[in-house]
Amino acid sequence: MAKLFINERNKKGHINPELYGHFAEHLGRCIYEGLYVGENSDIPNVNGMRKDVVEALKEMQIPVLRWPGGCFADEYHWRDGIGPKEERKKMINTHWGGVVEDNSFGTHEFFELCEQLGCKTYVNGNVGSGTVQEMSEWVEYITFDGVSPMADLRKKNGHEKPWKIDYFGVGNENWGCGGNMTPEYYANLYRRYQTYVRQYSADKPVKKICGGANSDEYYWTEKVMDTCFAMPQPPAAHGYMDGLSLHYYVFPGTWEKKGSATQFDENDWYNTLKKAVFMKELVERHGAIMDQYDPKKQIGMIVDEWGCWFDVEPGTNPGFLYQQNTMRDALVAGVTLNIFNKHCDRVKMACIAQMVNVLQSVILTEGPKMILTPTYHVFHMYKHHQDADLVESFLEGNKMTGAADDCQVPFLDESVSVDKEGYVNVTLTNLSVNEDAPVEMTFAELIPAQITAAILQGEAHAYNTFEEPEKVKEEKFDAYEVKDGKIIFTAPAGSVISFRIR
Ligand code: AHR
Repeated sequence: MAKLFINERNKKGHINPELYGHFAEHLGRCIYEGLYVGENSDIPNVNGMRKDVVEALKEMQIPVLRWPGGCFADEYHWRDGIGPKEERKKMINTHWGGVVEDNSFGTHEFFELCEQLGCKTYVNGNVGSGTVQEMSEWVEYITFDGVSPMADLRKKNGHEKPWKIDYFGVGNENWGCGGNMTPEYYANLYRRYQTYVRQYSADKPVKKICGGANSDEYYWTEKVMDTCFAMPQPPAAHGYMDGLSLHYYVFPGTWEKKGSATQFDENDWYNTLKKAVFMKELVERHGAIMDQYDPKKQIGMIVDEWGCWFDVEPGTNPGFLYQQNTMRDALVAGVTLNIFNKHCDRVKMACIAQMVNVLQSVILTEGPKMILTPTYHVFHMYKHHQDADLVESFLEGNKMTGAADDCQVPFLDESVSVDKEGYVNVTLTNLSVNEDAPVEMTFAELIPAQITAAILQGEAHAYNTFEEPEKVKEEKFDAYEVKDGKIIFTAPAGSVISFRIR
């Protein structure tokens, strides 16, 4: 029996709601069809945004949305996406599938969407192929509340009042699709570009995100921190940035042949989860480099692209990155979110890639139909961690039996928080593909009186389809007993469980 010890009195840090963030790029059917169908669509919409999708995302409590890319961001020229729609430029989305981008979803539509979702905004600017002036004027267009050429243009386009940019990304993957730069070159460009990301409103500061590393390329973090942090007179206590990004994708195979989203064997299962668990090492090692410059942890680590990246579904456009989502994805989400919670002192935001119809999505659509993926249910089950305090927890006797013990994946994995209403929120994953885990949960002081719990379980390959949309879904979990203040239950193989206890 594994023992889960929880010291609910020992608070370890605050879990920023933005750890549960999302990413939507002009890629495949994410924006168009997935989120935005236009005002004239037969699909029920409010100002062009799909009602079903917006409602589901609100129910999941989406805290922040990153847009417009991704690689698309460093080719995006924001002026193409404002003004009367019929006059907006049509162009080819060279990066993703070579399809026509008609720019009908632009700045106004993004802020409309975030207003409907009630979430924070994360706009990613163009360093790779854009100018300092273009970036600077975009921020002026969006946030300036006064007389200026850009504010006047916004008003002429129908939006009198400025919007709020919560986070602004200065470029994306500038080591790759964002310009193939060296870290030294990018870091100097970052210093320059971010200078003109003006703060037009003292009470609505724009947090600036510097483009960070890919996976374990620690030299990037080192060089960028060195150039952007160590300086004689920093403009702020934390230098030129509020956050430094990190991108990391999980796949069992190679970059060229990543593996199928739905057809996999036991080996692929553990390989995928082992790679997901590697996020812990990434966060700790990049974090250790950041600590050398920023020991007070004023700069957030922003994991603004993460998730499973498999081969596209057979028969779909290879440039659209459309993939299915099984219980394996649910486990990757569960374990990764537990890692973020447990490193909430440094990780301040994370955005799963991507929100709808692309990579590890929470929602898939087909015409007017919409399904929630297993990953959606994990985000829903974990939502009470948002804005709560992480508390101490550890597992004892956490070992799989037999050959699986060699798989370098923990048996169980957990994180625990206490929220503002005083509930202890426990999220737990059983990463074994075939072994159930008996668990005894103990608290420092709490005598459990009120318990609600949910479970997501299913055969490892189980997923939802438009024909069978509820094959995998969150269900009430009541197969536990309370004995001497302990909660005793069995976590089925390959399951995610959440408890809310008071
Ligand atoms: O999420 C898909 C792509 O992955 C993004 O556009 C890019 O930033 C990353 O390489």
